[in-house]
Formats: sequence, structure tokens, C-alpha cells
Amino acid sequence: MTTIDKPVSAAIIGLGWWGRKMVTLVNAGGADMKFVRGVDPSAEAAAFASEKGLKFSSDMAEALADPEIEAVVLATPHSLHREQIEQAVAAGKHVFCEKPLDLTKAGAEASVNLCRQAGLVLGMGHERRFEPPIAEILQAAADGRLGRLLQIESNFSHDKFLALDPSNWRLKADQAPAGGMTATGIHLTDLAVKLMGRPIDVRVACENLASAIPQGDTMSAHIRFENGGTAYVSATLSTPFISRFAVFGTNGWIEVRDKAHVEAPEGWVVTEGWKNQRITVREVEPAEPVRDNLRAFAHAVRGKSEYPISGEDMINNIALLEAIVRSAKTGALEKI
Ligand SMILES: NC(=O)c1ccc[n+]([C@@H]2O[C@H](COP(=O)([O-])OP(=O)(O)OC[C@H]3O[C@@H](n4cnc5c(N)ncnc54)[C@H](O)[C@@H]3O)[C@@H](O)[C@H]2O)c1
Repeated sequence: MTTIDKPVSAAIIGLGWWGRKMVTLVNAGGADMKFVRGVDPSAEAAAFASEKGLKFSSDMAEALADPEIEAVVLATPHSLHREQIEQAVAAGKHVFCEKPLDLTKAGAEASVNLCRQAGLVLGMGHERRFEPPIAEILQAAADGRLGRLLQIESNFSHDKFLALDPSNWRLKADQAPAGGMTATGIHLTDLAVKLMGRPIDVRVACENLASAIPQGDTMSAHIRFENGGTAYVSATLSTPFISRFAVFGTNGWIEVRDKAHVEAPEGWVVTEGWKNQRITVREVEPAEPVRDNLRAFAHAVRGKSEYPISGEDMINNIALLEAIVRSAKTGALEKI
């Protein structure tokens, strides 16, 4: 096998909910990547790593010192991402970082620039871009088929965190601010900046309506863009799973509903309305967007293709997140 065809040898950093999902999925094949190491301070994670045949350490330094490791995948609490990216880049490893990249625009810029200057690929856990019907929307917008983009309406919610122990980092207002924003809403704002460009301001309502979650359980954001147009993004942590993304253009509109959480995809329902045509509804077969995102990252590491989520989109999204967090506190219109 030539080097270009060799699977990228990776370490997973953080073997919690999402890290385990990625190991199981990637090592089943089809990602052009293989996890050979795991890092996590917890003993429970050590048992999982051993079951999966991964070399294990409780500290990232050992994985970074391993010459076999070409890339690290960060599935750790948000507040650790920046420092772990710095360490990985210093060791010359490519980085795939779970969302959000950072909680501040300055931090996102620092990480994007660090990877760029070192000539290393930075991937992001925004697998929604790889859901087949969402990829169709992105293509239809890029081709101009939707016409001038006017509005986005979206909601991504679930109630999985209601069962977490209150000490969990997911339920800390400083680590996961603004209701469901860092859990789910951040995927929708990623799509919004990809489609609509640079955001200029945002107004948020964030309330605690049905839980004791300190950052609030129900938020919605109304975003305006430099080129005109708006996006409405909402996320609650107190309703059963729902994921709905709709984009409206002058030639037509498309609405995508996920049948299940991306943890175990069951396919999508797509409703479309095009100028002078009847509204149609169709079903799209299940796919594995999380694996397909990691494969795109692996291909970028091998230089086969450019990674599709640009550094500019990553920075725009985190600048928007930072303003959303401010507006969630003030209720005021916040400039970006
Ligand atoms: N893309 C998606 O759809 C998606 C879905 C779920 C979670 N995520 C993201 O994945 C990341 C992890 O979330 P999660 O739900 O798996 O959290 P989790 O709490 O279940 O897992 C985090 C793991 O990180 C470990 N950890 C803590 N400090 C560490 C350190 N210094 N080095 C190595 N490991 C350390 C913890 O022990 C834990 O096992 C977050 O950024 C989250 O937003 C993304």
C-alpha cells in the first residue's frame, strides 16, 4: 500500500460519549483512518480502550510522543480544546476538533492560524454538512439553484442531558453556555454562516423553563448577515429529539428533518417547494455523516482533497457563538 492509500493513524483524546462513538464507527472501516491510541483520565475509558485494542494513556503527552500517530481527534470538554490544539500542533500532529472549536473568536483565530502556519489540517466535528440532504442544500445554494438566499429557520434539540449528574461539565454555564447552543445550536450556526456568509449581529432569548440547567434550557437566536438575510436558530434541552433545517431562496425552499439523532442515523425527510412546481416530500436513506466527515479530514491529511470546512467559516461561527452567549445574558442586540 502506498502512503497516500494508508489509513491515517490517529489518537482519540477523550473517550466519553462521542469519543466512543467515533472509535466504534471509524474502526469499523470506511473512514480511511484508524484509531490506534486512546487518551482519557478515567479508568472506565481505559477498559473501553482495552476492549477496542487501543494503546491507552491517561495523558496526551504519551500519544503526542508516539511517531506512529499522525493526527489527534479531540472529543474532550470544550474548555480544553484550545490548549490541546496547541499541544498537538507543537508535536506536528494534524487535529480534528469536536465542536465548538473555542468559546471566543480570539481563541478560534489562534487555533486556525496555528494549524495553518504549521501546514497541519484542522478538521471540525460539524458532520451536519455531510448529511446527504444538507449537502444537497449546500450544493443547490452554491450552484445558484435556490436563487438569492433569504432566510434560514432551524431547530436542533434533545433532552439527553436531563439525566446527567449536575456536576457534569455539560451543565456548567461557563463551559456550555446559552442553553443548547454549544451542544446542538452550534451545528446550525455553522450551516448558517456557510450559506449566508459573515454574521453582523444577533438577538437571543435564553430561558430556563423546565429544568434546573444553569445556562438555561431553551434558547433562540435571530441572526443578521453582512449580505442581508437572516437565520433563526433554536435549541432546547428539554424536549424530545428534533432536528429541522429549512432554507428559503427566491427560486425555492428546502426543509430537512432528521428521523433520529446522528448518533444512530435513520435517514431524513426532505420537503421542497420550487417556483411553479408542486411541493414534494421524499425520504432519504440513512448515512453516516460522522464517519464521512472524518474521511474528508483523512483525505485532507493525505493531500487528496481540501478539507471542506474553511478556517474562515470556523472563525465566523465562533465569533457568532461569542455574541450569542453575550446576548443570552443581556437579551440585547449584540454586534459581531
Ligand atoms: N459532533 C457531534 O454531533 C457531537 C456530539 C456529542 C458530543 N460532541 C462533542 O464532543 C466533545 C465531548 O463531548 P462528550 O459528550 O463525549 O463528553 P463526555 O463528558 O461524555 O466525554 C468527555 C471525555 O473527555 C475526558 N477528558 C476530560 N479531560 C481530559 C483530558 N485532559 N484529556 C483527555 N480526556 C479528557 C473525560 O474523562 C470524558 O471521558 C465535546 O466537544 C462535544 O461538544 C459532538
